[in-house]
Amino acid sequence: MNTRFTFCMIKPDAFKNDCVSEILCEILKAGFKVRGIKITMLTKAKAEQFYDIHRGKDFFDKLTTYMSSGPVMAMVLEKPEAVEALRKLVGKTNPEEADEGTIRRRFGVNTTQNAVHASDSYENAEHEWGFFFSKREIY
Ligand code: CMP
Repeated sequence: MNTRFTFCMIKPDAFKNDCVSEILCEILKAGFKVRGIKITMLTKAKAEQFYDIHRGKDFFDKLTTYMSSGPVMAMVLEKPEAVEALRKLVGKTNPEEADEGTIRRRFGVNTTQNAVHASDSYENAEHEWGFFFSKREIY
């Protein structure tokens, strides 16, 4: 298992609220190197596939409708202990419960529109960047 890499996705609310560049700056300032990056749109079906692990939960439809409502920025990020470091920088799912200074606390709107997604394990990170990137698109 390679613990230097993780996956991050900036969500549609950050595009709507014009804070994508500020979020990216926070990520770079925290010492992450960007190894893959793209802006794309998820269809409802693609959002459902990405969040398949949450299928059946009460927020699944709301989440996948929202995630297909605007652009996302998908990134492969590198830093030692990348998963843990990014999740600390991002903060708790609910922006109101996230620590001061975290990305979700600063830029998130609510539990669904919480500015960014960060992988919760190295296994999931690899699966998630494979969803967006071919091998040739990761440097
Ligand atoms: P994310 O890190 O992208 O992973 C799953 C997402 O589901 C999460 O961020 C939230 O956007 C969303 N989510 C998790 N729990 C809830 C909830 N209770 N209500 C609405 N959305 C949720």
